[in-house]
Amino acid sequence: MGGAALAVRDLVAGYGPVSALRDVSIDVPDGAVVTVLGGNGAGKSTLLRAISRTLSFHGGAMTGGSVTLDGRPLDGRGADRVVAAGVSQVPEGRQVFARMTVEDNLRAGALGARGPRTAKAAALRRVHELFPVLAERARQQAGLLSGGEQQMLAVGRALMASPRLLLLDEPSLGLAPLMAARIGDTIREINGQGTSVLLVEQNAALALRLATHAYVLEVGEVTLSGPAAELAASDEVRRRYLGVVDETAADDASRATAAHPVLSRWEDSR
Ligand SMILES: Nc1ncnc2c1ncn2[C@@H]1O[C@H](COP(=O)(O)OP(=O)(O)O)[C@@H](O)[C@H]1O
Ligand SMILES: [Mg+2]
Repeated sequence: MGGAALAVRDLVAGYGPVSALRDVSIDVPDGAVVTVLGGNGAGKSTLLRAISRTLSFHGGAMTGGSVTLDGRPLDGRGADRVVAAGVSQVPEGRQVFARMTVEDNLRAGALGARGPRTAKAAALRRVHELFPVLAERARQQAGLLSGGEQQMLAVGRALMASPRLLLLDEPSLGLAPLMAARIGDTIREINGQGTSVLLVEQNAALALRLATHAYVLEVGEVTLSGPAAELAASDEVRRRYLGVVDETAADDASRATAAHPVLSRWEDSR
């Protein structure tokens, strides 16, 4: 299946008179996990919506800059064409279809995908392997799943299009720590299968454990970026996003990312 490289350059976006992103540039190398950290209202969801071309569904627009996937422009296409190009988004707040069954939710995820039926069958097998509970609950209404299971379904639905780049909008939000950690493990597994990942999170400890490279977004601008291990070790990130009192989480994050084998590959490819 393989991954894809994303390049966002000087992105400007907003909602009518509200400016949300100013000159944001971000790279996701092929096969990498990159995270964008930022508090509420920083512009994280706007960034993902600009990439997936879904800003207009929220009354927003991209007014400057460019987004390319493997060098080909994504901007100017419709949202369906972006999915067909290999980019799937797991939206903020999961947004599963509560009254539909689990299997119909997954089927909906395959709608925009290119490729033969066999590719969809393979995608479904992959999703069921990653999340056996989605096979067990196939006939159940999605709204009856727990929060963590709904997040699994949202990720599974996005994987049904066999994306080469997965966009994740705060997948750990509202989940108990253990469930958030499980989602984290799954993200690593999905990435291990070759899919590039752009993860936006307020949960910096989790995100920095998974990512090789990180950006900090503050009120619509990138204020800090670098290898995740360096950000995890920086005083500013520790204070603002990992919390001064949470020294253990900061240490864990920097140790885990320092040991991450893909780190040198990112640096090589720069
Ligand atoms: N649908 C919308 N209509 C108007 N303004 C919005 C909308 N969505 C987000 N915004 C504004 O855009 C800015 C960035 O928001 P958002 O991208 O949702 O941030 P984050 O995801 O980091 O919390 C905020 O000022 C927010 O109020
Ligand atoms: Mg958001």
